[in-house]
Amino acid sequence: MTSFEPPFAIAVVAGARPNFMKVAPLMQAFVSDSDFRPILIHTGQHYDENMSGRFFRELGIAAPDHHLNVGPGSHAAQTAEIMKRLEPIFLSEKLHAVLVVGDVNSTMAGALVASKLGIKVIHAEAGLRSFDRSMPEEINRVVTDAVTDLFLVTEDSGRRNLLREGADAEKIVLVGNLMIDSLRRNLEQALASDVKQRLGIEGQRFGLVTLHRPANVDDTVQLSGIVSALTEIARALPLYWPMHPRTRARIQAGTLTLPEAIHALEPLGYFDFLCMQAGADLILTDSGGVQEESTVLGVPCLTLRNNTERPVTVECGTNRLAGTTTESILEAWHQSRNSPKQGRTPPLWDGRAGVRSAAAIKQFLEAGTPVSA
Ligand code: UD1
Ligand code: UDP
Repeated sequence: MTSFEPPFAIAVVAGARPNFMKVAPLMQAFVSDSDFRPILIHTGQHYDENMSGRFFRELGIAAPDHHLNVGPGSHAAQTAEIMKRLEPIFLSEKLHAVLVVGDVNSTMAGALVASKLGIKVIHAEAGLRSFDRSMPEEINRVVTDAVTDLFLVTEDSGRRNLLREGADAEKIVLVGNLMIDSLRRNLEQALASDVKQRLGIEGQRFGLVTLHRPANVDDTVQLSGIVSALTEIARALPLYWPMHPRTRARIQAGTLTLPEAIHALEPLGYFDFLCMQAGADLILTDSGGVQEESTVLGVPCLTLRNNTERPVTVECGTNRLAGTTTESILEAWHQSRNSPKQGRTPPLWDGRAGVRSAAAIKQFLEAGTPVSA
């Protein structure tokens, strides 16, 4: 590979809620180092104030240099639109590299456009695999990693998966977890949130729910099986459920009604949501990021899925796979009450992933040869 001279022009692509927590520490590391010229691009995949704008303010991310305003659409339409709008920007910015994070449609779109233009692709959170191709995110992960030049991984399973798929070991760097950088940087402020006062649950026991995987919420029969389990759990522990717009739309369109002890909320801001996670007795989720955050916070987490691309949260952390049927979820809840897991924080989830990522990227672009892991 050709070596480059600083300053390195790097486009950072973000589009959906979980991207913003990962981009914040990266942008911080880039802007504090004059060897980088970061260009932030918001695709507009998520666009509501409480799914996007609020996170920029709370996480201290500067306004994006480019906003593509793509909005919703089918997978093909949304991905294609992002690609069409990214290409002229990538060309005009004379980039050394494009950095994509996570596993959303914006991630895959950014990686494909860059690689076809011959621009180096860097993927943060590379190598995670659920081995379940019915998940749109798994397709995004596999496709993104197929065209990635530098893999920044969060846990050792990511490295092992990439090696099994034939990636060059020297292009894989275990940097830690960017989302956990954001958690560590913001936890103190988050704990000062008045969200529990606003909900009238200060000092009370409660559980926290988030669900948005299409496989769980798009099918009414599936969703009602989950809600039956939540209804049973809510008899013992009131549940608070900040509802993703995808899920709210399904509940509003269908015949499902929630019992009084399950409190549906609008999606929460980052500080409020971290505060709720830290104070919860139990978290029930199908979110990728929430599995990681609950592990670091040491809060028991039941993941309402049959698999996870983040196995370290089960092996090392407080996470348990609970499946997606009423019976499997209740069984996992009983197990969790009878034998609570004592979690540990996974290696390098220490708040310095942004700094390590920037160092690995600099070495990669400067050396013109692969970095060592
Ligand atoms: C997307 C990601 C998923 C990620 C999730 C995080 C893909 C394929 N999926 O799923 O991996 O875990 O974000 O939250 O990239 N909507 C709004 N307002 C918004 C955003 C979305 O109302 O600000 C509604 C729209 O009706 C939209 C639907 O939610 O059609 C789904 O949004 P989309 O970005 O396509 O997928 P998510 O389910 O959010
Ligand atoms: N989150 C939030 N408010 C909410 C729900 C989640 O701030 O109401 C945060 C959560 O703390 C984590 C991120 O959003 O940092 C996870 O994003 P999401 O669950 O949407 O996506 P996933 O991680 O599943 O891709």
